[in-house]
Amino acid sequence: MKSVSVCIRESLNRMGVANTEQYMVDTIRTIKLLGKWSANRAIGRKRPIIAVFSMTHYCNFYCPMCPFGNADKEGQMSLVRTRDLTTNQWKAVFDKVSRHCVWSIIEGGEPTSRPDFMELVKYLYSLRMPITLISNCSLLHTIDLDELRRYIQFVTCSIDSTYEESYCKVRGVSPQMFKRVVDNVRLLTEHQVPHYFNSVITKYNAQEFIDQTYFERARELGVNAVSLTFVEDRSDVNYSLLPDRKTMQQVSESVLDYMKKPNAVPIMIPPEYFQQVIDHGRTLFDECGVWKSVFVNGDGTVMVPCWKFNSPENVYSLLEKSIDEIWDAPQWDIAKTCHECRVLGCIWYSSQPVTTFARNYMRGLGKIIGQKRPELAEAVS
Ligand SMILES: C[S@@+](CC[C@H](N)C(=O)[O-])C[C@H]1O[C@@H](n2cnc3c(N)ncnc32)[C@H](O)[C@@H]1O
Ligand code: SF4
Ligand code: SF4
Repeated sequence: MKSVSVCIRESLNRMGVANTEQYMVDTIRTIKLLGKWSANRAIGRKRPIIAVFSMTHYCNFYCPMCPFGNADKEGQMSLVRTRDLTTNQWKAVFDKVSRHCVWSIIEGGEPTSRPDFMELVKYLYSLRMPITLISNCSLLHTIDLDELRRYIQFVTCSIDSTYEESYCKVRGVSPQMFKRVVDNVRLLTEHQVPHYFNSVITKYNAQEFIDQTYFERARELGVNAVSLTFVEDRSDVNYSLLPDRKTMQQVSESVLDYMKKPNAVPIMIPPEYFQQVIDHGRTLFDECGVWKSVFVNGDGTVMVPCWKFNSPENVYSLLEKSIDEIWDAPQWDIAKTCHECRVLGCIWYSSQPVTTFARNYMRGLGKIIGQKRPELAEAVS
């Protein structure tokens, strides 16, 4: 009988990604951790299963929808010097988190701006943590991509628009930067680093989803999957980037239509997300699943239940406390009834059964585990 890891590799190959050694996810580790997670859940104890590391306070971009897009880059550099975790502190955090989580996501700020970026990636790899890197892709030409390919599973390229003008509006950057990013995306293809696009849909780039040109242009740029989410408006600014309700409906109908086409570029968000936006102007979920991820800020803190409840009594440091101590905090109860996130794809996803949630990050691993261990899949759903 074939081993589970062989099945995983075959399945990933079927999804159109190259047959390379980096897909060797440690399935035994994953199944053990999922078993522990579901045993905890059975006795009402919530624990995280996915790790998200916001590696730095610095970003070289100016995206208006993101707090890291603020124009005060000097201020960000000062935060890097005073608040960013050191290499060894991040390693200590990775050690703690890897005892619980089956997958890690590296983001920021711009994670590739850290001088020790590759050292930290290698350390996570040594802990057998599969890695998704989320990047604006502007600095990838400074990284040894052949080396990167050995240690990570995927790069999520934040390419909101395939058109220069819209891209520059959403990202707050110059046309030169757009060209640099496009060149770097091509480098990923050349170096066979598995990657897909993530687009944040705003009023600036909605049109290319309505006319469906985003998908074919993305394919021309070398990707074979895309992920989409409507922008979640920031609460700390007095503008909205969300398209009006009619436009959101048109986008959602068009995406649903595109998904049905033969040879469509696979879209990693299920149709239910778009159907709910059509029917209700937002996504629906019973209980927010934010607790299923540990989101570690650049200074090693975790906000309970999430960034929107940023008061001192909700901030815990992972340098000082364990995951168990933080996940036993009473503030997680806020998430039981909060529905503040209206369209954020990742929060909607995390609020679905965990196998659906995990699949988003692992692209197929959840399903394969489900096929091999149906009792586990049932327990965790
Ligand atoms: C905060 S960024 C950090 C990583 C990297 N700088 C990048 O842009 O890919 C992580 C992801 O969040 C997305 N994002 C940022 N602001 C958002 C918002 N208001 N709503 C939805 N997604 C957002 C970005 O497009 C990106 O894909
Ligand atoms: S590139 Fe990423 S971190 Fe930087 S401002 Fe844009 S979304 Fe935020
Ligand atoms: S729905 Fe509420 S608790 Fe959940 S992530 Fe959004 S703001 Fe936080």
